[in-house]
Amino acid sequence: QLPDKVSIFEVGARDGLQNEPTIETSHKIAFIDALSQTGLRHIEAGAFVSPKRVPQMADSSKVLEQINRLTNISYSALTPNIQGFELALQAEVNEIAIFGSASEGFSQRNINCSITESLKRFDAVMALAKCHDIPVRGYLSCICDCPYDGPTKPEQVAAVANDLIDMGCYEVSLGDTIGTGTPLRIAKVIEAIGKNIEQERVAVHFHNTWGQALANIYQALTMGISTIDSSTAGLGGCPYAKGASGNVATEDVLYLCHQLGIETGVNIEAVAKAGWQICQQLNKTPHSNVSLALLAK
Ligand code: HMG
Ligand code: MG
Repeated sequence: QLPDKVSIFEVGARDGLQNEPTIETSHKIAFIDALSQTGLRHIEAGAFVSPKRVPQMADSSKVLEQINRLTNISYSALTPNIQGFELALQAEVNEIAIFGSASEGFSQRNINCSITESLKRFDAVMALAKCHDIPVRGYLSCICDCPYDGPTKPEQVAAVANDLIDMGCYEVSLGDTIGTGTPLRIAKVIEAIGKNIEQERVAVHFHNTWGQALANIYQALTMGISTIDSSTAGLGGCPYAKGASGNVATEDVLYLCHQLGIETGVNIEAVAKAGWQICQQLNKTPHSNVSLALLAK
């Protein structure tokens, strides 16, 4: 049974652009402003993380302050700790996201602490977010495989997902960070998560490195998941890892959903146009078959 409607959580300006060469702030602002005109309701606009670690996100305050905000769109940012939360608050984000890992190796490399320690840091962020009435999303990375520890057990994913929901996240977004997942494995993870968490509180966040993201999304849809993270033009990918690609492209997800009769509220042509514009600044072609096909039409 497929859902009637899905909600697209656009991460191109954050997950996409954090993995591309740094571009001028004005180009990011133009990109987000274009995305705001497409019908999207959730746009991740930046990350308040160490500028030494991720220089591409160092201008997140400026971006959030200068974009042309629409009142019916939630603009969000990553906040790994209190320092990040304070900056996000100043920039008047509509919601924040904490981001943990289901595997220890990635937790250490990405956020410089163990899973247990990360949950303590997130608790502190959560307490402040509650004071300020800011909704908190929880990302969970490496739900299938970890680049350092190998395969992750679905029960382990479920355990950390429960922690994120128990501490107050309104939703947990399941990250196939290195895009190695395939539908049967994704089904096992969603099944394990479903023992304690309602489908309405689960999102999927699939990277397309191995070309499986759309198949995995279809699997998730058949299991009642109705929030999908995606990145316009499939932005992302690591300049140091040949062949690595970004998140599943928003255009491709929209085409799949619309053809399945699932409502998204998002205009596919407008997203494709925003994708071509940002790709021009990045000197690349969109990583989206749908975007290329639309152009050829
Ligand atoms: P830390 O534990 O303090 O240690 O930070 P650190 O050595 O990694 O960083 C320390 C430096 O960062 C210090 O500065 C801090 O002041 C500074 P220094 O003394 O060296 O000059 N710092 C900050 N600066 C600005 N804003 C802050 C902040 N916090 C500390 N909020 C921390 C821990 C997590 C902050 C750090 O390790 C970090 O920024 N890591 C990068 C994490 C990141 O952005 N990763 C990419 C996003 S996650 C992702 O892409 C996965 C996802 O898409 C889902 C999926 O696909 O699986 C969400
Ligand atoms: Mg990601």
